[in-house]
Amino acid sequence: MNPEDKKRIAAEAAIDYVKPDSIIGVGTGSTVNYFIDSLAAKMGGQVKAAVSSSEASSERLRGHGIRVVDLNEIGKLDLYVDGADESNAQLQLIKGGGGALTREKIVAAASDQFVCIADDSKLVDVLGAFPLPVEVIPMARELVAGALRALGGDPRLRDGIITDNGNQILDLHGLEISDALDLETRINQIAGVVCVGLFAHRPADVLILGTDDGVRICHPAA
Ligand code: A5P
Repeated sequence: MNPEDKKRIAAEAAIDYVKPDSIIGVGTGSTVNYFIDSLAAKMGGQVKAAVSSSEASSERLRGHGIRVVDLNEIGKLDLYVDGADESNAQLQLIKGGGGALTREKIVAAASDQFVCIADDSKLVDVLGAFPLPVEVIPMARELVAGALRALGGDPRLRDGIITDNGNQILDLHGLEISDALDLETRINQIAGVVCVGLFAHRPADVLILGTDDGVRICHPAA
């Protein structure tokens, strides 16, 4: 099965987690695009509204006639569905390949259940082969880069990208992340960091993988 079909079947399987008449959190990326399309096709008018993690997803949701609401109007969500760039067996994630990490982390934090959808190439033994995105306030970029180098990584500015929040992204190369909780805490403490795309303190609750043999549902390893 090709990678696109694997993303699509994972996204379609996530529809089982959506309750009729609910407001759901929706992430960003090519896998989530399949989810949005499938949500519209299978549940259409039954979805009350969505809280979206990016302008791109909001546009796609509205294009299908799904209302997009502000998180501040809702408070808490039952369900968040989003993709990932990498997941380990504990369902700790690297996210932000699409640049939407900050809003993704906010919506994940507001949700009781986080269902992650991906093709099976995203499941790894150790996080870090995918460069870890860090959203930074532009005036602090070099200050943050220096602090990230001190942690052992090689930060590189994502050229020509301004996030939905008006910030820049440093992609941190060359790390093998053995203690994701500790690294997330350390990076969060650097002045000028808006958000790090490491989802360890709030990992996914369920990972749905598209594989050659169909869909595989994973829960966090003990
Ligand atoms: C967006 O900022 C990311 O966190 C995405 O969830 C992640 O990059 C996965 O994207 P794909 O579904 O396109 O692989």
